[in-house]
Amino acid sequence: MVKYELLNFNVRGNHEGSLVALESSKNIPFDIKRVYYIWGNKNDVVRGKHAHRKLEQVIICTSGSCDFILDNGTERTTVHLNSPSQGLYIKSNIWREFTNFSSDCVVMVLASEHYDEKDYIRDYKTFVNEIKSAKTYNVNVR
Ligand code: TYD
Repeated sequence: MVKYELLNFNVRGNHEGSLVALESSKNIPFDIKRVYYIWGNKNDVVRGKHAHRKLEQVIICTSGSCDFILDNGTERTTVHLNSPSQGLYIKSNIWREFTNFSSDCVVMVLASEHYDEKDYIRDYKTFVNEIKSAKTYNVNVR
């Protein structure tokens, strides 16, 4: 099973509009050090194609919709995001690709660390090898 969580945020609002508040270590399960957002992607473009060694992220589709393909090295699952009141929480060592962007899609990402290229695994084979050696290490230390 690919590990991820869908966080459902409390929405304050009425017929005039809606509001979601995101707070470090409250409804976001880490201290937020960085926020970035992505928009204007063509429908069939595939972004991401990497994993992180340490980083945790909450990913929110604040407008429109898109698909997140998550992969733990042995299994893959697709999560469709289409609500600003939902956050996809992923920890380290998950390969991710995102695609199928609606024309109005804006993806906002909250991250637990500042940008660090050394935290990226950008090659799928390297990712699978790192997962395998981490599993071997865990088995041997028990
Ligand atoms: P990248 O993570 O490769 O984008 P995606 O996975 O969404 O396709 O980042 C694209 C470029 O932006 C790359 O040159 C690194 C840079 N970047 C930053 O400078 N800071 C950041 O916080 C992020 C996420 C990317």
